[in-house]
Amino acid sequence: EDFISKSELFKDFLYFPQIDSTNNYVKENQENLKSATVVYAERQNAGRGRLGRSWTDLEKGVKMSIFLRLEVIDIEKVVPLTLFTGLIVNRILRKYKVQSFIKWSNDILLNGKKVCGILTELSGEIEGAGNVIIGIGLNVNAASLPDELLEIATTLKKEIGMDFDRTKIIIEILKEFENELENFKKYGFSHFRDEYKSYCINLGREIIINGEKKAFCKDIGQNGELICVQDGREIKIQTGEVTIRW
Ligand code: BTN
Repeated sequence: EDFISKSELFKDFLYFPQIDSTNNYVKENQENLKSATVVYAERQNAGRGRLGRSWTDLEKGVKMSIFLRLEVIDIEKVVPLTLFTGLIVNRILRKYKVQSFIKWSNDILLNGKKVCGILTELSGEIEGAGNVIIGIGLNVNAASLPDELLEIATTLKKEIGMDFDRTKIIIEILKEFENELENFKKYGFSHFRDEYKSYCINLGREIIINGEKKAFCKDIGQNGELICVQDGREIKIQTGEVTIRW
């Protein structure tokens, strides 16, 4: 991991053997962090997931947060940014010949199980201040999972049957992220929409929204919203919990 700390890509790469949560670290220290700082932890004892959930800490994974100071960012931009990040991770996995897919908004699935989750948060006191934390949790080389996760989550090693070089994966993700962020800033999510759609498994399927309402997914909007049909009416989903009915 020492190699990474010398990388030109992200000059400020903070490595922790153990931490509560890399997203928390950024939140608590944002005043002192430069834009494009990456906080990486080998283990997290209070990793956080989306919708107030916890993120189970698996060994030999990738857990990191990218801190960005953007010029303006409002809550509507957070969804596209998080979708963009998921797309970058998916792109790198695909480069490794991993047959991953994206489940809206930004879970990466492999053989129908979650292999990566992303938690994007606005960290500034004031909305529009532009401080964004993008937390990425990728399950890489753990050989097993706790029983309660077996049905829903997996690791690259479990599915592909080999170990992956985490250092390489991290560098590839960060490099791709950094390169493409320029396009994201210039053109927004729409620049990535076709690629996103081609890997998005929700399209053409029925989903359950927030555990109750059924809807049929027909498209991804210019800003990454999920466009569905429900009771004959078109609805747009910006955020929340979406379950796929297989
Ligand atoms: C999800 O619920 O799918 C999002 C999971 C995000 C986990 C990552 S691991 C690194 C960063 N630090 C955290 O506490 N959470 C994110």
